[in-house]
Amino acid sequence: MSTVSDRHRSPSTVLVTGGAGFIGSHACVELLDHGYEVIVVDDYSNSGPQVFSRVERIAGRFTGAVYELDIRDRRALSAVFDRHSVDAVLHFAAHKSVGESTRMPVTYYDANVGGTTALLHVMAEHGVRSLVFSSSCSVYGDAGGGPLDESAPHRPTNPYARSKSVCETVLADVCRADPRWTVLCLRYFNPAGAHPSGLLGEDPHGTPGNLFPCLARVAAGRRPRLRVFGADWPTPDGTAVRDYLHVVDTVEAHRIALDRLADAPGLRVFNLGRGHGSSVLEVRAAFARASGQDIAYEIAGRRAGDVAELVADAGAVSRAWGWHPTRGLADMCRDAWRFQQLNPDGLRGTPRRPGIEQCEGAGPCG
Ligand SMILES: NC(=O)c1ccc[n+]([C@@H]2O[C@H](COP(=O)([O-])OP(=O)(O)OC[C@H]3O[C@@H](n4cnc5c(N)ncnc54)[C@H](O)[C@@H]3O)[C@@H](O)[C@H]2O)c1
Repeated sequence: MSTVSDRHRSPSTVLVTGGAGFIGSHACVELLDHGYEVIVVDDYSNSGPQVFSRVERIAGRFTGAVYELDIRDRRALSAVFDRHSVDAVLHFAAHKSVGESTRMPVTYYDANVGGTTALLHVMAEHGVRSLVFSSSCSVYGDAGGGPLDESAPHRPTNPYARSKSVCETVLADVCRADPRWTVLCLRYFNPAGAHPSGLLGEDPHGTPGNLFPCLARVAAGRRPRLRVFGADWPTPDGTAVRDYLHVVDTVEAHRIALDRLADAPGLRVFNLGRGHGSSVLEVRAAFARASGQDIAYEIAGRRAGDVAELVADAGAVSRAWGWHPTRGLADMCRDAWRFQQLNPDGLRGTPRRPGIEQCEGAGPCG
């Protein structure tokens, strides 16, 4: 059993919740590349264990351990903390689809808020009080356009966003109640792209809710066309504008966050974005250029809970840590397309070898 003591040294063993997912799997590679020991917990509700052989292939090692569990199962989670001397936690595990959250609010609050409170209980019981939390720009909601800094008010417009906002409130209260906690909330704008190796990428179960996997599937002929949700938003071309950030830039910020956790106690909040907005049609055009494919689309109605524009003012994190994203939209499209080409069946299939021309399957996917 771990000793119940606070650990102020730089973390070396990091527990990654949701480490089989899109951002979590890239974070595992980033941490392994920088000498961390990595312990993963994931219930595979939106992923699968196949990803870890790919993580190991990229990083050249995987010395940690992987546990299949739901973080709301406090007994199972506690057993992991008993077995490993965890220094800090990267907390990615959550449900993340805006549309689904409007239909299944209880599921979202239960998984996202209940998952976070269960984790906080178990961490405190084991004297681990260092946490990096995956928040979201969706907490800003209908902010009316223009780059948003961290002081912008929370105006969430859907249950997913409200669940993240509630988690932030819980974390602020926890830090107020016990000054031994050190928590970094990273509000991501829109992580996208894939690992440049083509071995890791975004491969959600079911119909993707995010733009990049939809574009990749249409470009590959797995889906007939892209559905653009709303062309009547108050934006230059009428389609929604978001600030896309390469997933590798995103996880580099997490590794720096771990290094900087001990800078100050309490809660700190940073936006992670590029400060550059792109409309759905601009991203579609960029993906068409990267893939050399025409990407058919249709205009559908606005999705419940969506907003016109979310763009980051990410000045605070760059001033604090010197973190700047270095990859642009063309890089995200190139890497997401490479992942699609090398993994026509997603992460569950055997990756094709880079550089070998393959014939893509045709026809819509489910
Ligand atoms: N991808 C984005 O556009 C985006 C934007 C803003 C914030 N975020 C946040 O970043 C985090 C990671 O997102 P992602 O894109 O990698 O999502 P993802 O669905 O690919 O990864 C989440 C992982 O958590 C696991 N999981 C879910 N509930 C769990 C539970 N109760 N117990 C254990 N494991 C559980 C899933 O199986 C999955 O592997 C999430 O918290 C998400 O809300 C993502």
